Amino acid sequence: MNIILLGPPGAGKGTQARHLVDTRGMIQLSTGDMLRAARTSGTEMGKKVAEIMDSGKLVTDEIVIGLIEEQLTSQAGAGFIFDGFPRTLAQADALAALLAKLGQSLHTVIEIRVDDEALVARISGRFTCGTCGEVYHDQTKPTTKEGVCDNCGGTEMVRRADDNAESLRTRLMEYYKKTSPLIGYYYAKGDLRPVNGMSDITEVTASVEAILG
Ligand code: AP5
Ligand code: MG
Repeated sequence: MNIILLGPPGAGKGTQARHLVDTRGMIQLSTGDMLRAARTSGTEMGKKVAEIMDSGKLVTDEIVIGLIEEQLTSQAGAGFIFDGFPRTLAQADALAALLAKLGQSLHTVIEIRVDDEALVARISGRFTCGTCGEVYHDQTKPTTKEGVCDNCGGTEMVRRADDNAESLRTRLMEYYKKTSPLIGYYYAKGDLRPVNGMSDITEVTASVEAILG
């Protein structure tokens, strides 16, 4: 079963994806995570990617489609979770073509709906474990013991360079200009299932589980 998690920055895509990886053995394909790995490579491409990401703009379709293709053809599991991909209509068409080439299909597109005002609070309170990538929040999901990851015991917590008010404004603008048309695109295809992303993390998880069956 292959699914897409669609939603604005801070909606909870990564949080819900990690749950599905843990409980269902699915493979999370987050283009954001892949690009953050690429930016540390020190290559010319890495430097360019870092600059674009910090500004909040979208990286080119060519780069992200290339990253997804590489992962789709090299991994196998209980299905893929596309987290933060596709983000443009060109990426959506490319994904459909890639899946068809591999004899696979898309099961569902889950749209996580969150009010814009709530996104600012989510983004500004987020931190992740530098060892395992577990996602936390200062208020809504703190670690049980301060500074220690509940999942792996790691003690290095990181905050993203693009999690600031200015980048978030650009990320939201990019979302509404280039990504939100995908809501209509997948609705017309009959694949779209919205969930209320304003409720607690566990309630959103329950809604996602109910859709996936
Ligand atoms: P990416 O890493 O994908 O960032 P994003 O889309 O902006 O989304 P986030 O990761 O910020 O949010 P999320 O929905 O995963 O929320 P999370 O679960 O962490 O992309 C970053 C950049 O890379 C882009 O700006 C672009 O430059 C580039 N890029 C990536 N993909 C690309 C593509 N396909 N094409 C072109 N460029 C691309 O949750 C957020 C916080 O809220 C956490 O602290 C969490 O604990 C908390 N939280 C989650 N759910 C809830 C809840 N229900 N209630 C309360 N708190 C909650
Ligand atoms: Mg994310």
